[in-house]
Amino acid sequence: MRVVVGVSGGIAAYKVAHLVRFFKELGHSVKVIPTQTSLNFVGAATWEALSGQPVSTSVFDAVDEVQHVRIGQEADLIVIAPATADIVARIAAGRTDDLLTATVLTATCPIVVAPAMHTEMWNNPATAANVATLRARGFHVMDPAVGRLTGKDSGAGRLPEPQDIGAFALDIVGRTKDLAGMHVVISAGGTREPLDPVRYLGNHSSGLQGTSLARAALERGARVTLVAASMTAPVPGNVTVVPAGSALELRERMLELKQDADVIIMTAAVADFRPAHYADAKIKKADGSDELTISLVKNPDILKELTSARRESGQIIVGFAAETGDSQGDVLYHGRNKALRKGADLLVVNEVGEAKGFGTADNSVVILDNEGEPLGETSGTKLEVAHAILDQVARIAAR
Ligand code: CTP
Repeated sequence: MRVVVGVSGGIAAYKVAHLVRFFKELGHSVKVIPTQTSLNFVGAATWEALSGQPVSTSVFDAVDEVQHVRIGQEADLIVIAPATADIVARIAAGRTDDLLTATVLTATCPIVVAPAMHTEMWNNPATAANVATLRARGFHVMDPAVGRLTGKDSGAGRLPEPQDIGAFALDIVGRTKDLAGMHVVISAGGTREPLDPVRYLGNHSSGLQGTSLARAALERGARVTLVAASMTAPVPGNVTVVPAGSALELRERMLELKQDADVIIMTAAVADFRPAHYADAKIKKADGSDELTISLVKNPDILKELTSARRESGQIIVGFAAETGDSQGDVLYHGRNKALRKGADLLVVNEVGEAKGFGTADNSVVILDNEGEPLGETSGTKLEVAHAILDQVARIAAR
């Protein structure tokens, strides 16, 4: 395996010599890319001797080999350790001002980030936002260890132990390619139901659970198509994106793709109703009336349609259920009923409400089988939840 170890300018850089050793002793090829400032802590000679490969920090070294794109394209794993607040910020901003950041921007392999910085920097809202951005994009950002820092202080911000970083990274790349050869079609985002040429009815879906599923399916070897309604979450590279605006458009796109899909996952927040009439011209305020009544008609239930006309050879269909619970029953009660009604192989139930589900980085779900029986409960980042869902998909596919 080709491992790139990115070293940024923190005192913990000296510990990363053991990480390079760890990968080398397992027989992997290691390319170390330090930032210029990190050379104040550990010099290039150390990295060259340990890795057995030349070291450069700039995109202007070995220009004929087009290093700034080649290294990232060819890497099987990138580990950035220590990751300072500065490198986290530069990567989150998509900058390419040295060889390490250029490599990160061209890479399609898993990227592990092991932060090390003072507690104040780790807790600063700017760093927290950058870390959240990286996690949302699928970077595997470890939590820093808690303990003694460089000076007299101690707290969160210590570099995790090199063997822990190594083991964490190998776990991620070692994930079995259990969806290899499968085509996974995922709908994501919220539909927009047009009212007139400038207005629509919509919802708060960010699309993040859908894009996280897309990333997780790619990591497990699948070919992925994302049918994207309105969404703000960034789409991972290597995914075929098919845009869809309204529920009716989303239905068309899903029906077109259905025959070629081994797995269908409906994360999209599909509007249950659409305006009964589309006004060709902008709706104006009527004189003398303070009210406007909009008639709505029901949209087709796309998930139900997909499960009732399944492709003949095995197809796994996963639905989502966003529930708040009400006087009739709790979230799981409604989830169970929905599982029986929708006919999907799996139904992922999550509780929504203010600051829950929509737009948040984390999710907490219960996965039900086709009879509404709980298979397990999972919480964590949306990428972790995505893998838990795909564990169940892979289990059904292996039957
Ligand atoms: N869904 C769909 N077509 C619709 C509405 C929802 O395919 N017209 C899909 C969603 O993508 C999701 C699942 O059905 O996978 C459940 O969505 P949800 O909004 O929770 O359920 P509803 O069918 O709208 O049921 P209810 O109104 O009773 O909550």
